[in-house]
Amino acid sequence: MSDATAKKEERRKFHAIKGTRDLLPPDTELWNRVEQTAHEVFSTFGFGEIGLPIFEPTDLFARAVGGETDIVSKEMFSFPLRPTTEELADELFDMDAEFSPAGNFVSPEDERQFQERKRTESISLRPEATASVCRAYIEHNMQQQPQPVKLYYMGPMFRRERPQKGRYRQFYQIGAEILGGTDAPAIDAEVIEMLMTYFDKVGLQGATLYINSIGHNAENCRRGYVANLKAALEKVKDKLGPDSQRRIDTNPLRVLDSKLESEQAIIATLPHITDHLCDECKTHYAEVKRQLQVRGVLYQENWRLVRGLDYYMRTTFEITAPGLGAQNAVCGGGRYDGLVELLGGPPTKGIGFAIGEDRLILSLQESGKGQIQQGRDVYIAWMGEHAYAAAIRAAKDLRNAGFSVELPPLEQKFGKALGQADKLGAKYALILGDNEVSEGLWTLKTLADGTQQKLTEPDLLQFLRDQKPASQ
Ligand code: HAM
Repeated sequence: MSDATAKKEERRKFHAIKGTRDLLPPDTELWNRVEQTAHEVFSTFGFGEIGLPIFEPTDLFARAVGGETDIVSKEMFSFPLRPTTEELADELFDMDAEFSPAGNFVSPEDERQFQERKRTESISLRPEATASVCRAYIEHNMQQQPQPVKLYYMGPMFRRERPQKGRYRQFYQIGAEILGGTDAPAIDAEVIEMLMTYFDKVGLQGATLYINSIGHNAENCRRGYVANLKAALEKVKDKLGPDSQRRIDTNPLRVLDSKLESEQAIIATLPHITDHLCDECKTHYAEVKRQLQVRGVLYQENWRLVRGLDYYMRTTFEITAPGLGAQNAVCGGGRYDGLVELLGGPPTKGIGFAIGEDRLILSLQESGKGQIQQGRDVYIAWMGEHAYAAAIRAAKDLRNAGFSVELPPLEQKFGKALGQADKLGAKYALILGDNEVSEGLWTLKTLADGTQQKLTEPDLLQFLRDQKPASQ
């Protein structure tokens, strides 16, 4: 490397990788509020939190989400995980194998086992968490607990999509899953009711709930419909764009998802799945809708809502919110009976959803509901050594009482200190000079109106406590 290149390297500024971003204060306060509300609301519905790994075997997602889906075929961050020399040595030690004088395995079975352990595995950053929850359900024998098991999670997910407003490569989800027990439509309705209660509590305005049923994978239900749809699509193939043309063969249902303007009129003429559901799925769907009405949950039916993951059956739903542009889905979910079994567990019912936290935050901010009260409660403007000792004590007492307090580390002239207090958006300035300390009367200035009052230390603390809203 030339000197010039080395210098340039040294001065290189680092940036967050494309599609990732830093979450900064004061926005992070809104993130915390949104998450705290989820903890509170979900626990009133009997959900417990589950923590999951950020990476899992690639095969888990391929099997659960589907190898042909966009998520698995194009969007995963996958890495080969080759065992290190130390790990291989540990494996050998574990195996307690016998070796010939030339250093070869004596038993062919040992050799086979070692080759298996030596295998390079592909792992992926999780693009979603439903697959992991099902894996954990199986791994921890949760079918032995009282059913259903209700779990929720929050955290980052990773998809290598083209970044744009509301679409990131590292994004955050708050999700919930109900596993085991019955597939009673009341479960579908209650999980949706919980979601809408949550959105209401968090202050999301203008959310619209769309629902659909995509039946189950049988000839007299979805499979029959897909054959029908495929035949209808073949007839209009030359009017469709290249993506939809390809999907006629790979996954005809996904054509219904198309947002291409030129395809909308054609899609409107295609057969509807609701007319092809088997009797059981039809009854289930009707009862989900009735149960939503009983709960006072408003919905709109959308026959084109098929979702982009393979594990769904029967109920699917999505929620859109204003202020998000093209990426307006803040939540997606649905029923996935059979997924646990597909991953090697017992036959198990399942339903759940995931909220896009980034989009929820964006929508709250756009509607002005994401305003976070900024600034400190009290800025302590001190001058003089005695005053500093009193200021440290006051800061400690006020912080213990739950106030946010700024105590400048260096002495400042009062004028400068008050300017600083203003800049930080402080509500009060506590003015402490050596005079105030020797008199035992402290000055409290309300910065909004400039009024001042002199109070003893205990009265001042009491006064501030009385001003603090009960919610804080
Ligand atoms: P999903 O529809 O792929 O479903 O994602 C759920 C939500 O995550 C979306 O509605 C959206 O708000 C958000 N989201 C997805 N991709 C991005 C992205 N690149 N940037 C920002 N936000 C994004 C699932 O993930 C299923 N696991 C949901 C589920 C749980 N179904 C049953 N249980």
